[in-house]
Amino acid sequence: MQQIIPESTSPISPTLQTGVRRLGINPNHWYVVARTSEVINKPLSVTIWKKAIALYRDSTGKVHALEDRCPHRQVKLSHGQVINNELECAYHGWRFNSEGECAAVPYLAANQKLPTCKIHHYPVKEQDGFIWLFPADVEPNIEPLGLPEWEHLNYIATVSVINTQAHYSYLIENLMDMYHGHLHQDLQAWAEASLQNIDEDENSVHAHYTAQSYYKIDKIWSISQLFFPALRRLHPEPLDVSYVYPHWVSTLGNDFKIYCLLCPVNETETKAYLIHFTSLNAFWRLHKLPVWFRRFIKDSLFGAAQKLLDGLVIQDVKMIEEEQQAYLQNSQIRNYELNRALVSVQKLMKTQIEKLG
Ligand code: FES
Ligand SMILES: [Fe+2]
Repeated sequence: MQQIIPESTSPISPTLQTGVRRLGINPNHWYVVARTSEVINKPLSVTIWKKAIALYRDSTGKVHALEDRCPHRQVKLSHGQVINNELECAYHGWRFNSEGECAAVPYLAANQKLPTCKIHHYPVKEQDGFIWLFPADVEPNIEPLGLPEWEHLNYIATVSVINTQAHYSYLIENLMDMYHGHLHQDLQAWAEASLQNIDEDENSVHAHYTAQSYYKIDKIWSISQLFFPALRRLHPEPLDVSYVYPHWVSTLGNDFKIYCLLCPVNETETKAYLIHFTSLNAFWRLHKLPVWFRRFIKDSLFGAAQKLLDGLVIQDVKMIEEEQQAYLQNSQIRNYELNRALVSVQKLMKTQIEKLG
């Protein structure tokens, strides 16, 4: 459904605004809980919406996700170690298999049976550089969002981690409201955003803006614009931002694609991974070079936009956390919102929870 922006806009209803700050998550989606490189043969403790989960890699390299709780005495299993394909608790050495069943107790007497205690295990996938987890108690019937650019030789990636003491709705609204380019003026990210129209369905909101971009990646040396602001020139580009529940995706012209992959921790804490891809598609000569050389260029330029991305995150997090604090001090205070994309985004967040019944 396409929604044309009306001439006059009205503020978002205060009830909709305040209710959204306490929303839970719809667990029937794939969330990102870690980077692939963070999960080694030592267990890693992560939290997705108040659920503590132990991630570990077995001897074949496969990643598993178990509830981070030993059913013997309720301590965290992630303090333990991986023995073959099982997770061994640090306290008394009980071992659990990837189904969450107790597989061994080191001091089990000959006349004793293994305890039948079982902990929860979660569907987990390793894909495109990240660990995707499905936190619902049912089998997934959808696929993770996926980042085709992660392996593609024509894209250079930069990753920045967001850890913010704020509800996930503040982060999503920040990412969907391109009028906040004002905040990033010193970093020269984009300028003069203007919302044109919105497409939405039950799982996504796509907001189409026009904007001015500072970057034009049309020569191989133009990548140096990422490092040297003096080389940047403003020019018009379409700026599309999408909330594809529970994640966010954006394109700025043909040169940039950005993802924000969410891991909401609780009502006042959110972790997320921001992944920026610079496209090399404009260099047709590059495509004729051997694959090993293209891979070398991709790997050597990994993190090219790090300074820019980290700078944007610091500025955004400061604002988001102040919004959260203001809400905690007075949840009745009313915002004056003029951006219709945010109305759609808040509605989507609520609809996702209402679906749960
Ligand atoms: S508490 Fe885990 S083995 Fe005893
Ligand atoms: Fe921002």
